[in-house]
Amino acid sequence: MDWGLRNRIDRMFSSTSGHSVMLAVDHGYFMGPTRNLENAKATIAPLLPYADAIALTRGILRTSVPPSTTTPIVLRVSGGVTILKEDLSEETITTSIEEAVRLNVSAVALSVFVGSPHEHESLSNLSQLVDDGQAYGMPVLAITAVGKELEKRDARYLALACRVSAELGAHLVKTYYCDGFSKVVDSCPVPIVVAGGPKLDSIEAALALAHDAIAAGAKGIDMGRNIWQSEHPVAMMQALRAVVHHGATVREASAIFHEANVASAPPAPSGMA
Ligand code: R5P
Repeated sequence: MDWGLRNRIDRMFSSTSGHSVMLAVDHGYFMGPTRNLENAKATIAPLLPYADAIALTRGILRTSVPPSTTTPIVLRVSGGVTILKEDLSEETITTSIEEAVRLNVSAVALSVFVGSPHEHESLSNLSQLVDDGQAYGMPVLAITAVGKELEKRDARYLALACRVSAELGAHLVKTYYCDGFSKVVDSCPVPIVVAGGPKLDSIEAALALAHDAIAAGAKGIDMGRNIWQSEHPVAMMQALRAVVHHGATVREASAIFHEANVASAPPAPSGMA
């Protein structure tokens, strides 16, 4: 792997744990002003110091993230439909690879819709993006989207979608946690990070998702709603970091969450693992 491409990937993952806590704030690209992300700048600011990478669109990057940030950027470059459409799979590439380079991002990300009406187009988009990215040392993160069909989040389907993404050249894959998740990880030759999905019933459920995903071999999380729709987003980031980077149990991480939201959130430690 070329040095520049390797460097872009490595800086998103801790050199000590090998894992990553990515903050996902790209939801507006098809959902509009999602709850607690209406003012993206205000949502992002306190969380950014705790993120190993942040996933967003160029519009939110330019308007809501200070250019002085050192946090690696995962730039969503697919879109073109909104939740008002029944079929969400008709995405195109919305942002060029030259724009991604201009924005100095660490990776580009697109959704692939395996088994959906526009499966072919989304997989073609992935292949083209890998080719385009290769010329610039730009890694591609494939997101195995399920659209509105959340029931697709099972090991058989996700293993298929992740494997196909890796076969077509994705350097990283974002998918969902599911029962039998190790089957998904074991059959995917590139690192997997997991999304959180819609907000879960409890903090502990979200921490357990992260814990079990890492235990099954995921290299990190790329989580949104279970962080910034939590009552205490900074405390949630701290608790998730304990799980992902330090192997905390759900009980230990839950205690960190509750302690952190009692005290006012301390500044992120420098050189965070
Ligand atoms: C969809 O909008 C994106 O791929 C999200 O970044 C992904 O689903 C992670 O966010 P959440 O944890 O809210 O599902």
